[in-house]
Amino acid sequence: MENIILPNIPDLHKIDVYELHGGYKALRKALEMKPEEVTDEVKKSNLRGRGGACFPTGLKWTFMPKQTMKPKYLCVNGDESEPGTFKDRQIFEFNPHLLIEGTLIACYAMGIHTAYIYIRGEYGKWVKMMEKALADAYAKRYVGTQILGTGFSTEIVIHKGAGAYICGEESALMNSLEGERGYPRVKPPFPAQVGVWGCPTTINNVETISNVPHIINNGWEWYSKIGAPKHPGPILVGVSGHVNKPGVYEMPTGVPLLDIINKYAGGVIDGKSIKAVIPGGSSTPILRGDQLDGVCMDADSMKAAGSAVGTAGVIVMDEDTDLIQVLTRIAKFYYHESCGQCTPCREGTGWLWKIMKKFERSEARKEDIDLLLDIANNVEGNTICALGDAAAWPIQAMLRRFRDEFEKRVKPEIVRVETGAVA
Ligand SMILES: Cc1cc2nc3c(=O)[nH]c(=O)nc-3n(C[C@H](O)[C@H](O)[C@H](O)COP(=O)(O)O)c2cc1C
Repeated sequence: MENIILPNIPDLHKIDVYELHGGYKALRKALEMKPEEVTDEVKKSNLRGRGGACFPTGLKWTFMPKQTMKPKYLCVNGDESEPGTFKDRQIFEFNPHLLIEGTLIACYAMGIHTAYIYIRGEYGKWVKMMEKALADAYAKRYVGTQILGTGFSTEIVIHKGAGAYICGEESALMNSLEGERGYPRVKPPFPAQVGVWGCPTTINNVETISNVPHIINNGWEWYSKIGAPKHPGPILVGVSGHVNKPGVYEMPTGVPLLDIINKYAGGVIDGKSIKAVIPGGSSTPILRGDQLDGVCMDADSMKAAGSAVGTAGVIVMDEDTDLIQVLTRIAKFYYHESCGQCTPCREGTGWLWKIMKKFERSEARKEDIDLLLDIANNVEGNTICALGDAAAWPIQAMLRRFRDEFEKRVKPEIVRVETGAVA
């Protein structure tokens, strides 16, 4: 299958080149359809969110109220801060107009007149590239009032985050947009009822929205036949770690993980064997290298293997990798990024990191293995947002699949020898 999200077309980020290759045709087509027909098309395509949870996009769009006096909003999530994930920035850089076109179509489908594209704070270069693309789209009247001479108007605003992973969580993102601290909100109410500025809001990932123009141009049937039937479409897979050709690869969903590593990413460096793979960004459960046969990059297959597609950030670790060190680093990340609002996450992530440091230094007690699991189990499911889960899952999975690695790092017991000496 040829790339459609990141096609190999030089200068595609320029609006003239984008138009030359059929750009903004889908917008014209969508504007001739009824808004609910557009949503229906996306629903039938089976597109599922690329922001981590694989939630059906069309279904999410139907949650937006039709009869409301309040303004409605779209937030395009480009916070992209999960370790191992670096795919959305490719869209900002190489195909920004696809994202703008998808944003406009989504707005039209849901009757939205303002969209925010929220971009990770550290992505300065990509913020500038998006701003330039957006200015060009405004100049050609694709964005703004009475788009393409129709009665439909939408403004798009680019918003730069301030460098916090938590602001990628949809409700924290909305607080951050409003100028508040990036604390996740308690749900319900869900964003479709009470979102940005207290108004109905839809949040979708950058890559998710970039699929929409292709669905409109080619129809849901065409789209639903790409890749895995229950989780179709192209997917951007970021491969990092011990591979010869790390990078972002576009492929249909459902490609075997071993093909991603060996065929796309050029295999493991120096032909070493694979010890472990984190398949979907740092929060997704780790897989053993000897259990990768038949595991594919789609929601069902990953679930059956005991992991998740997440954001398709594949981290490959060879036979020499110190997994305890890897996990300690991941634990530190979640401790650092916990917003501190919920006690189990604020305290638990700190304890997980502290105990992992003991294992890293081979100073842990045997009981620390169970303690680690106990803390992770008490964080999971007990927080307002899924950051707590994201911190617990890597620990739980590592204990399940690599318990021996922990056992090896337990400090040898100090044996007291009774000397029988008389004072
Ligand atoms: C701690 C945390 C961080 C997240 N970061 C991102 C992110 O950077 N980008 C993203 O699209 N979704 C992120 N999500 C998921 C969003 O909350 C939301 O599910 C997603 O943006 C919905 O888009 P989709 O339906 O198109 O996948 C994060 C979730 C959590 C719990």
